[in-house]
Amino acid sequence: MPILVHPYRGYRRLHSRFGPTVAIERLGRKPIILTMDEDLVATLFMSHSENLVRPESVVSGIFRANLGEGIVSAEGTRWEERRRRGGQRIHGAILEEDQVEFLRESLRELRDDVRALAVGGVVDLLPLIERFTLSVSIRLFSGDAVARGNGFEEIYAAVRTASSGTQKIADIRWQMCTALPRPVRFRDNSRRRALAPSFNRLAALAPNPEVRELLMATYENPSSALSWSTELLGENPEALMRIRAEAANVDLIDTPGLNVSDLDGLRFTGAVIQEALRLYPPIAYLGRRVSKDIDIGDLHIDSGSNLAVVPYCLHRNPDRWDAPDQFRPERFLDDGHSSKGIPRLWSFGAGPRGCPGSRLAMQISVAALAVIASEVWWTAPSGQQLAEPTGRYPWSEKAPGRQQLVAEPAVA
Ligand code: HEM
Repeated sequence: MPILVHPYRGYRRLHSRFGPTVAIERLGRKPIILTMDEDLVATLFMSHSENLVRPESVVSGIFRANLGEGIVSAEGTRWEERRRRGGQRIHGAILEEDQVEFLRESLRELRDDVRALAVGGVVDLLPLIERFTLSVSIRLFSGDAVARGNGFEEIYAAVRTASSGTQKIADIRWQMCTALPRPVRFRDNSRRRALAPSFNRLAALAPNPEVRELLMATYENPSSALSWSTELLGENPEALMRIRAEAANVDLIDTPGLNVSDLDGLRFTGAVIQEALRLYPPIAYLGRRVSKDIDIGDLHIDSGSNLAVVPYCLHRNPDRWDAPDQFRPERFLDDGHSSKGIPRLWSFGAGPRGCPGSRLAMQISVAALAVIASEVWWTAPSGQQLAEPTGRYPWSEKAPGRQQLVAEPAVA
């Protein structure tokens, strides 16, 4: 039951009791291999990727049933083709000049939204963050939909509706799991399809499933990373100050000629985002189904088994990370703070099916955090601890908002 109520805590308990690799046997079905052995995951995801496919789990089910077959849910040559095309869209996204203009436009709106906040009261930064990541994703990826005469606001509303639809599915699933003595499996796609109306409008506005996927990914995941980053900064004023100092050297909005190297210069800001991604990975599980028997040393994994990797568990492993539960962004700077080998950030997955949008996601998030931190100062309300993520949502669990703006500062 603990796994169902608070999956992350449940997985941690399983690992501390049975070790870093656990086979969960299922009556009449192939086991689920749950592993937090970083070397094993790296070997599997990188050297055995040709024997792994995405599982027919809720993730691919939801994606295929509701968004259509895009990159995430395709396999084989269909995946190769989609991934190549998607990669072109993503890699072209920020490096080209007109695209940088799009980013600048969204940053300008974000700055105006932040300036409009009532200072001195309790505010929630998440709605501003979500508006920003959604506006960037629309500007970068829904050119087709906009070109067909659909307004920004219409696409905005459709993506939000689709997003809350997926959240609803996750909620229902967990309610069913916790109400009943054992996990409930959806028998077929019919129940998921019952929620498809949330996606209909989006499908009408952006008929290409890859575009829908890129829109959702760029909206959901960077906003999750930013929500946890801002929450963490509310508890770490020195880090917030350091971001402000860094941002003061770069004008991301008014001076023409913003380019990628300006963002690369915001190294500490990037380290804060990475640390938030380490502590609170937006995607809770990296899942794979084994399509052909795999042997690694003494370990034999049967074809048909499922692999489940929980980045949260890997990132909180004290054998790999110093003080793994603490917020220490410096560990991502090359200044010797990381003393335990070469820890890896698993938040973007790994191998050929790893996230193709990781660089873009970092650029968007770093730029947004620098702009927010340049405009306002915030602290967490005293006595309120930042909630731990539960892992109950397969993707994009966001921080519960609780920031309190205490002053509007002069720019550092
Ligand atoms: C903080 C932001 C993001 C996080 C944490 C994140 C995380 C992930 C993860 C964990 C995966 C699965 C990897 C695996 O199974 O090994 C994934 C896949 C994917 N992500 Fe992201 N992502 C983010 C942003 C983005 C953005 C901005 C885009 C698009 C521009 C994007 C597009 C995709 C696509 C298309 C896939 C499917 C790849 C495939 O199946 O080949 N992601 N992402």
